Amino acid sequence: MKKMQLFSTGILLAFTALVFANCGGDKENAIDNPPQGDACAGVNAKFTGDVLPLIKAKCQGCHNAGGSAPFALETYEQIKSRAGDIKTQAVTTSNMPKGGPALTAGEKKILGCWIDNGSLNN
Ligand code: HEC
Repeated sequence: MKKMQLFSTGILLAFTALVFANCGGDKENAIDNPPQGDACAGVNAKFTGDVLPLIKAKCQGCHNAGGSAPFALETYEQIKSRAGDIKTQAVTTSNMPKGGPALTAGEKKILGCWIDNGSLNN
């Protein structure tokens, strides 16, 4: 019994340490861009490395110049100018990608947190 308790305490300590370690990262950015609630804590999505590849894979099949969608989502400017709409259509709801499948929880986090953090060209 005692062993079990020690084990649980160990897990709890390890978990607490992990949570604190995560909060320590990127302090300046967190101050400049406070995350919306806890959902974005520890998510540091970048436009070039995370968001653009996601949009390329999941949206540009239709959202390209001359594509079946009414506007392109190919450049930073095009994407930023529709950031609010993109969040509504592909993160808050799953209207997009049109016809599905919906973005995964991880993909929604990348896109939603990048938008919540100001849609930076980073
Ligand atoms: C299969 C084609 C297709 C894919 C893939 C697709 N879209 Fe669309 N999207 C459309 C079409 C067509 C429209 C025009 C409105 C409609 O027909 O629903 C549209 C409209 C939109 C709108 C405007 C909606 C409105 O009512 O104002 C947004 C924002 C949007 N798409 C974002 C995205 C994002 C973000 C992705 C990727 C995660 C994506 N779309 C993937 C075809 C697509």
